[in-house]
Amino acid sequence: MDFQFTTAFLLAAPLLATLKIILQFFLAMRLQKQRLVEMVKGKHVLQTMLESIDRPTTSIRVSIHFYPCILPIHEPQISSKGGSKGLGKAIAAQLVSAGANVTLFARGVDSLIAAQKELSALNKTVTVHYVSADLSNLDAVVAAVRATTQKMGKVDWLIANAGSAVPGFVAEQLEKGSAQDAMMTQNYFSAVNVVRAIFTVAKSTAETKKLAVGERTWAISGLSMAAQEEVPSKIVLVGSIASSLSFIGYSAYAASKFAQRGYGDALRSELKPLGIDVHVYHPANMDTPGFVVEAETKPEITAQIEGAASTLSAEDAAKALLAGIVNKRYLISNDVVGELTRIVANGGAPRPNPFTEAIAAPVLSLAMSGWSLLADMEVRDFFKKATKQKIATDEKKKT
Ligand SMILES: *[C@@H]1O[C@H](CO)[C@@H](O)[C@H](O)[C@H]1NC(C)=O
Ligand SMILES: *[C@@H]1O[C@H](CO)[C@@H](O)[C@H](O)[C@H]1NC(C)=O
Repeated sequence: MDFQFTTAFLLAAPLLATLKIILQFFLAMRLQKQRLVEMVKGKHVLQTMLESIDRPTTSIRVSIHFYPCILPIHEPQISSKGGSKGLGKAIAAQLVSAGANVTLFARGVDSLIAAQKELSALNKTVTVHYVSADLSNLDAVVAAVRATTQKMGKVDWLIANAGSAVPGFVAEQLEKGSAQDAMMTQNYFSAVNVVRAIFTVAKSTAETKKLAVGERTWAISGLSMAAQEEVPSKIVLVGSIASSLSFIGYSAYAASKFAQRGYGDALRSELKPLGIDVHVYHPANMDTPGFVVEAETKPEITAQIEGAASTLSAEDAAKALLAGIVNKRYLISNDVVGELTRIVANGGAPRPNPFTEAIAAPVLSLAMSGWSLLADMEVRDFFKKATKQKIATDEKKKT
């Protein structure tokens, strides 16, 4: 009896904990608009975007999928939803509606002008400003931040959202300038450069004010008291589920997002004594602003592993991010599978429910092991089938 009870408890506890996590996640994902308004009204948010924020978007999705042996084979998903809105503009729209003044950084002037027009129309009482900047060029970003603070005042929130995904096989991205280089520039350095620029400008602004606050010179994290007054209170890095999970086709993309996650963990740790909150967003499921090239270059097997499933609209993905910020989560997910993956991949970052997550851990780590086994099987079978097909077509050509 005792033995049976113990066994049942050992099995039930992780499952119940997992259910509790799912419930808590759904609560944390609901955006309470009033609380967002309280946080951002009258504040100045700087947000970076992909070069053009209204490109057709492509779904990147990592889902718990079932091996074709178990379920009917699903169609590989390479969906390109032309004209749907990117995450960047969706976040900005929420912020503008909540009463924030927003500055957009992107490269393409035309898309910035269009975004400014559209966002301004949402709320006539706020200012939507933009600066065209090449985020890969640190000097250009510093100049852009300087110009922005002169016009709009200090940056209260930074949302580093610019990024894109170019999937492909390692063996096909060998040349200089291939996705292996481009992804680091577009995803890692686009975020890091804007953080560096904000601290550079904060330090030099503090220099000019030094006399006024000359007696307050003690420093935290290399920033004088005066400089500490010029830094944002929130820094948000937009990553991906690929910030902690990587598989065939995403070597370049995931590497840049893992790098960004490593930067984010250290940034959080360093800035905490200053009262600056850092958040990293790991959307597992959404329409990401991506290049058309992404859909064109995504290997079939990559799409197959991602699985076919409906994706969250950019608007819902934006709301999930802001809800995570309001609810003080460091790593923010936007769907259940992403949240469960987050728990396994949390590393040394703070957890919203440490004890529940510890109890759920056996179930979740077993689920991840299952996922990795199935993914490996899928890759092996895919290439087996491809080889067979290649041999068959070669034979046909010969005869
Ligand atoms: C516009 O912003 C103000 C704050 O500046 C806010 O009170 C108001 O609700 C917003 N209006 C709309 C239509 O979103
Ligand atoms: C920011 O917003 C507030 C209120 O919404 C407004 O009074 C203020 O002038 C704005 N700042 C700038 C620089 O536009």
